[in-house]
Amino acid sequence: MNIALADTSALTTAETLMLPLFADRPAPLPSPFEALAQTPGLSEASAKFKETGLFYTLPGAPCRRLLTVGMGDAADFSLDKLSRALAVAARVARDRLCERAGVLLAGLPEIESASAPRIVREATVALCLGLYAFKLLKTTDEAPADPKEFLLLPDENASREKLSAALALGLAEAEGVCLARDLVNRPSNHASPAIVAETARELAARHGFSCRVHGRQEIEAMGMGAFAAVAQGSRAEPAFIVLDTDPDGGKPLVLIGKGVTFDTGGISLKPAAKMEEMKSDMAGAAAVLGCLETLGRLGGGRGERRVIGLLPCTDNMPDGGSVKPGDVVESLAGLTVEIVNTDAEGRLLLADALAFAARLSPATVIDAATLTGACRIALGVHYAGVFSPSDELAERIRVTGADVGDRFWRLPLDELFAEELKSDTADLKNVGRREGGAITAAMFLKRFVPEGASWAHLDIAPTSFVDAASDLWPKGATGFGVRTLAALARGQG
Ligand code: BES
Ligand code: MN
Ligand code: ZN
Repeated sequence: MNIALADTSALTTAETLMLPLFADRPAPLPSPFEALAQTPGLSEASAKFKETGLFYTLPGAPCRRLLTVGMGDAADFSLDKLSRALAVAARVARDRLCERAGVLLAGLPEIESASAPRIVREATVALCLGLYAFKLLKTTDEAPADPKEFLLLPDENASREKLSAALALGLAEAEGVCLARDLVNRPSNHASPAIVAETARELAARHGFSCRVHGRQEIEAMGMGAFAAVAQGSRAEPAFIVLDTDPDGGKPLVLIGKGVTFDTGGISLKPAAKMEEMKSDMAGAAAVLGCLETLGRLGGGRGERRVIGLLPCTDNMPDGGSVKPGDVVESLAGLTVEIVNTDAEGRLLLADALAFAARLSPATVIDAATLTGACRIALGVHYAGVFSPSDELAERIRVTGADVGDRFWRLPLDELFAEELKSDTADLKNVGRREGGAITAAMFLKRFVPEGASWAHLDIAPTSFVDAASDLWPKGATGFGVRTLAALARGQG
């Protein structure tokens, strides 16, 4: 599927025009579309939010069909509503076998946050994400094919250069999100640590980033005892993946992504119900890779802000060789950890990745992890948790996320909770009490954060994998966090 900027002359008589309709104002039909107002039935078209209609135009019209898209009241217009309505309309266009569709983006109600380039960026993302489907493993597929092309028709007074940059940004963001969705939707036998590593290597090669992959032996030899303990129960070779956008660059932004390619819980085995969803336990790693894909497509290599991605990847399995509840391991930071519950494995991987990050003199460290079911219980399925000792960083993440459709809500990091992590046998244990489980997990990580770095932890367990589709999220993987991380890395947030 292709998305391009066009002007009105690009529409031929064989095409469909997507037309946003507002309840409280006439259809925005700028020249040369005025005559389309005569289209039979158009006056009955619903402007109710997300309702669509298909109308055949009169002979001689600049396009053959109109696909109306209800936007509700102009007074309530927002970028979020535009995105949701366009995602819905893109699916209708597919179902109605549109090959090429114009998308009229001129004449939308003026709102502060939505310049013409911003509208182009969001429309691009919405059309791509609206049509996303995970088809990799289907050998038969009856679903209709995607439209071949969308032609965006923005306000013609806007700067072409800015519109083109906005289109490129939207496409890069959509590619990043779709890459993350694909990785997360892949079952573990199609997304082993080795396969994630191969994806990372291929991504790095395409964008001129460096990529190193450390296997089991090196993970152990480096002293990553916490990570190694999780990996020891799995026959699949673990991978500690290090991607660097600019190895000669300055102090990096380090992004750490939890990459548990399947989480059975280990010896503290999870119940069978919905265990298959634990293929999504590498959504943090996928979000970091998606972010790097976006940055790479935008040319974010040498000379741009340096970003390092750290992806500790392994399955968490029960086995004769598995780590057992009560075992004590030595982490890379030197702290000993009593593994009371082998299902609290994410924080063990992240502890060693954080200690590794300390060697990179990072300015900022952000980790993204499907860390706790407790976070989902606390926040529900629309918001992810953000934890940071820095009010400024926490707020920046919240605001940046809200701007790109990733909702974050701050939860407390308070030493009161550290009490629960005291161990009788080691420096700390890996679980506290059930209540406030997302917070104790964050407090555990805080013990390993590099000194002097600004740090935030994103618990994306609530939002990474959903059991029902909504306008912009399909059922399954959402790609949550990709756009936020990319916007933060690009210094826009
Ligand atoms: N990967 C899970 C967290 C999770 C749960 C992610 C549901 C997505 C959806 C994590 O490794 C885990 O098992 N956490 C435990 C921690 C507990 C043992 C302290 C949990 O949340 O139950
Ligand atoms: Mn677990
Ligand atoms: Zn897990």
